[in-house]
Amino acid sequence: SLPVPNVQSLAASKNCTEIPEKYIRPELNDSSLVLNGADEPGQGDIPIIDLSRLHHPRHSEDEMLKLSLACEHWGFFQLINHGVPNEVIEKMKVMVGEFFKLPLEEKKAYERPPGSVEGYGQAFFVSQDQKLDWVDIYFLSTNPAHGRNLKLWPTNPPTFKEALEQYSLEMRKVSHVLLDSIGKTLKIDEFISLFEDCLQSVTMNYYPPCPQASKVLGLTPHSDSEGLTILLQVSEVQGLQIKKNGVWLPVKPLPGAFIVNIGDIIEIMSNGKYKSIEHRAMVNTEQERMSIATFLGPGLDAKVGPLPETLEKSEPYYKTISHHEYIRMLFSAKLEGKNLLDRMKL
Ligand code: SIN
Ligand code: FE2
Repeated sequence: SLPVPNVQSLAASKNCTEIPEKYIRPELNDSSLVLNGADEPGQGDIPIIDLSRLHHPRHSEDEMLKLSLACEHWGFFQLINHGVPNEVIEKMKVMVGEFFKLPLEEKKAYERPPGSVEGYGQAFFVSQDQKLDWVDIYFLSTNPAHGRNLKLWPTNPPTFKEALEQYSLEMRKVSHVLLDSIGKTLKIDEFISLFEDCLQSVTMNYYPPCPQASKVLGLTPHSDSEGLTILLQVSEVQGLQIKKNGVWLPVKPLPGAFIVNIGDIIEIMSNGKYKSIEHRAMVNTEQERMSIATFLGPGLDAKVGPLPETLEKSEPYYKTISHHEYIRMLFSAKLEGKNLLDRMKL
């Protein structure tokens, strides 16, 4: 990959009033395509799932139905009553905020090494003629534990490692409940076992304020490649939009909730029943924005393909390949739109 400028330093430089052409997105001129959810309260909002009800003797059936409808028709939902201790969430937010505040020279110690996908840097797989995202990204693999590249985990702030470790453990617990329930709604008994010793990674996104915010994208539209994504916004500043019926819909996170979305692998495993939805991040003229996304996938030995139970009533719509091969495919091209899913289509 080619070196890409650090966006945080670019935004901080005094003469940053006109931003480089590489960030300007002509496609954003058509603002009519954004639905302002605030105009229609409750109408355009993504579903809300209450995790505490999923295993509740009286409420489970209702909540499971809501979950399956959310996965089928939205691919996105807000997760409330998730049971993750507030201290763990707050600690993680503080650590990520502190990390991005470090001087560039210090952050560079964790720079993504050539040939690696982990570390501090910009969006992946850049070609000369590609438009750039207005974001700095810090990406780390967190599970399995032997797959961690601890050299890229910061020693400053000193408690970052511990915070990330605790946070990712909590994310695995939440994902276990969700994946177990998702498997049940799909009537696939062994579903959850595919996610034992799951592949887990965390990406921390820093979107600096941008003087021409309405002309750039924080993240190019994409669908997530793994099984589930659990997103935490670090502050109130919004920016996530999802594509629903061809229209961009801003997501307004509820206080304390996580935003969860179905990734390409679950779309594939469910043979297209559950949807991995395109989303993008917008940026702000005045305020920085940070988000923390946790990706959870099946174990590396699992196969990626439609599960047998989904093929009783229909033909497979996707290929079956090893998770290793799938990851090679993922990192062989820029993640854009649903291009990875398209390459998996039969
Ligand atoms: C993502 O798609 O990985 C993050 C989107 C966001 O920052 O809200
Ligand atoms: Fe994403």
